[in-house]
Amino acid sequence: MSPEQAISWNELWAAARQAASRAYAPYSNLKVGAAGLTGDGRVVTGCNVENASYGLGLCAECALVGDLHRTGGGLLVAVAVTDGDGHPLTPCGRCRQILYEAGGERCRINETKTVGDLLPGAFGPEHLP
Ligand code: THU
Repeated sequence: MSPEQAISWNELWAAARQAASRAYAPYSNLKVGAAGLTGDGRVVTGCNVENASYGLGLCAECALVGDLHRTGGGLLVAVAVTDGDGHPLTPCGRCRQILYEAGGERCRINETKTVGDLLPGAFGPEHLP
């Protein structure tokens, strides 16, 4: 699947909400799920996983990128991020950088934006010698 091909946002929102139902978020009580479409048509997902040492919590998008590589790698074309009720959530700053690495600036986020919109002028692999 090329980036120009249709993105099934309904499928991504449903997968993200399903992932949020598996979140481990006893400290914030904010369950987050993320679902991404890969260039070859796979749907990968992740949920947030918190920790008693608060700063060590993992965001849903981090788990999603782990799932991306676990299932064969490639480029993310589109990502949906939601809470457990299906309300869209914008990725945090760290996750914007992580999504830039995994999807590039053209990767669509929550239907209306791109990674490039959320992280203009990003630092990336192309800046390394
Ligand atoms: N969270 C995510 O999973 N992704 C984001 O982009 C924003 C924040 C999680 C981290 C923490 O477990 C909870 O939401 C509250 O910040």
